Amino acid sequence: MAIIEVKDLCKSFKVPVRKEGRLAAVRNLITFERTLKTAVDCVSFDIERGEMMGYVGPNGAGKSTTIKMLTGILLPTSGEVEVDGLVPHRDRKQLARRIGVVFGQKSQLWWDVPVIESLRLLKEIYRIPTRTYKTNMEMFGELLDLHEFQQTPVRQLSLGQRMRSDLAAALLHNPDILFLDEPMIGVDVVAKERFRTFIRQLNRERQVTVLLTTHDMSDIEKVCESLMIIDHGRIIYDGTIAGIKEQFAHYRELTVDFADGVSEVESDRAELIEREGQRARFRFNRHRVSASELITELAGKYQIKDISVEDTEIEEIVRKIYQRSPSENGPIES
Ligand SMILES: Nc1ncnc2c1ncn2[C@@H]1O[C@H](COP(=O)(O)OP(=O)(O)OP(=O)(O)O)[C@@H](O)[C@H]1O
Ligand SMILES: [Mg+2]
Repeated sequence: MAIIEVKDLCKSFKVPVRKEGRLAAVRNLITFERTLKTAVDCVSFDIERGEMMGYVGPNGAGKSTTIKMLTGILLPTSGEVEVDGLVPHRDRKQLARRIGVVFGQKSQLWWDVPVIESLRLLKEIYRIPTRTYKTNMEMFGELLDLHEFQQTPVRQLSLGQRMRSDLAAALLHNPDILFLDEPMIGVDVVAKERFRTFIRQLNRERQVTVLLTTHDMSDIEKVCESLMIIDHGRIIYDGTIAGIKEQFAHYRELTVDFADGVSEVESDRAELIEREGQRARFRFNRHRVSASELITELAGKYQIKDISVEDTEIEEIVRKIYQRSPSENGPIES
């Protein structure tokens, strides 16, 4: 049974009607008219225990709103949601012991209290056994380099330091599920790499289930096996990362370095898209021809020095999906 089950989940917010035209600014201030804005529009998905799921979408797509419903912070307008057998908004306290949450936009820690004191407070709140606390603090201290700033009040921390403290806080009670909503804003490349490794390790060693929201597609590629894309409150892709390439990236590229003396080159199976010196770049449809067939063809006709095949970057695929209008649902060309 899936650890997270979501069925027809919706969330609408009442927002003021914005008027246009003359004196609009003044009228907007005094209007009491309200309209419904749908942030999450009837989404359904399952996440299996131990799965690492990426959750991406453009700004305002509904990611944070979904996570807030999964963690019990927001009450759904309609639909069903179950996390580890609990209904988040109803069983919020019980759920808190089993989940860890990081909202990159907003710290969960006490603003004026040194990091280490915040963590000690959490130990008391979650009634974390001293042994677990010590083991985890040792592990996080090293992996997240907490030592250098653990005596500093949260409000004096740099963005990246705060994020590292927030992650430690979210993990202190050994949660089974981690909700990470943009947990790496402001984190430098070295810390980021350590962070990714750390999450993978937690998943491998403790079977922690991860739902990760980020705008950095390389986070997703390096951490997750599966991916959901949400746009205008609707899930438009739910599958593996390999699957999205299969479904959306029809073309691949082959770069070939030909031996000196090879002048004109052409292929029956691929389109020549660039030629510079002895290097040529071909584009081919992955559903019609395999890379090895193409290489065999070219190697049969010309002398080749080197060869490399590139997949379309997932970043590129996702960018194209975002750019489509909401009504276009067919596969896109890449
Ligand atoms: N409390 C609220 N009141 C009114 N509207 C809201 C509220 N919270 C979110 N919204 C609206 O709901 C939509 C979805 O917001 P949400 O924060 O879930 O987006 P997101 O996918 O997390 O975007 P981002 O990538 O920018 O974080 C947006 O249009 C937002 O303006
Ligand atoms: Mg958000």
